Amino acid sequence: MMNQNGTNQNGNAEAIDALKRTEKMRIEFVANVSHELRTPLTSIKGYAETLLQDLTEGRGADPEFVKIIVKNSNRLLDLIQDLLDLSMIESGVDELSVQELDTEEVSQHAVKHLERFALAKGTEVKIDCKAKVVYADPKRLDQVLTNLVNNAIKYCPAHSIITVKWNSEVSGSKGGNQKWTVLEVIDNGNGIPASHLDRLFERFYRIDKGRSRETGGTGLGLSIVKHILQRHNGTVSVESTVGVGTRFICRFPNS
Ligand SMILES: Nc1ncnc2c1ncn2[C@@H]1O[C@H](COP(=O)(O)OP(=O)(O)O)[C@@H](O)[C@H]1O
Ligand SMILES: [Mg+2]
Repeated sequence: MMNQNGTNQNGNAEAIDALKRTEKMRIEFVANVSHELRTPLTSIKGYAETLLQDLTEGRGADPEFVKIIVKNSNRLLDLIQDLLDLSMIESGVDELSVQELDTEEVSQHAVKHLERFALAKGTEVKIDCKAKVVYADPKRLDQVLTNLVNNAIKYCPAHSIITVKWNSEVSGSKGGNQKWTVLEVIDNGNGIPASHLDRLFERFYRIDKGRSRETGGTGLGLSIVKHILQRHNGTVSVESTVGVGTRFICRFPNS
């Protein structure tokens, strides 16, 4: 429907709705960040005060308390690092340096950093490179691989098998064929119930908050992955079957 100014009223209503949604998301985000920051800080404050009291009253300092303070300080730093990273990637202030990269090399590099963690759980990480090159920013691609493989090791039971797979794919219509390099991180863990899959890439969305925090998760890893793929004009999706495993699929355009 057109109004006197010739603008489309439905279009305006849609734009207003979109603005309202963005504003709601912003408010929720600030509330979530505050909550996530407050949890470790409350613990640091509590244990520091107890330590101070113990020392003032002539009792010794319990090293366990100091360990908890260090652990929660690290959590705060991780969270702030992820938040800064997310805002950099999302806002686009950092220019991407998209280069032709060797899929085997980038996969080996990311997996090497997680080797000790995988070994400790008896988890095997395989690399299968049917596609040899990918066009991506090296630092951001390393973040994608590290986040996805780290999650798979973390959320799968001990002795699971993870495969980092690279394939080529062609899709498109009307004569405009788009070539993609497809990265899949596949695990044979417990899988994720279908009801969670839609929300998995949202900031701070975790299936088991307690477990994620315990293992040092910030709940931002997958939303960082999603924004990295968006910056590359690519996509990320997830498929999962409970009792069978999970597959994260990242598509990078070949140009
Ligand atoms: N491979 C996987 N198998 C099962 N659950 C997973 C897997 N990867 C991610 N998840 C779930 O998705 C949630 C969000 O992941 P992520 O954004 O990386 O946050 P976190 O900091 O908790 O790891 C995790 O808390 C976990 O519940
Ligand atoms: Mg994670």
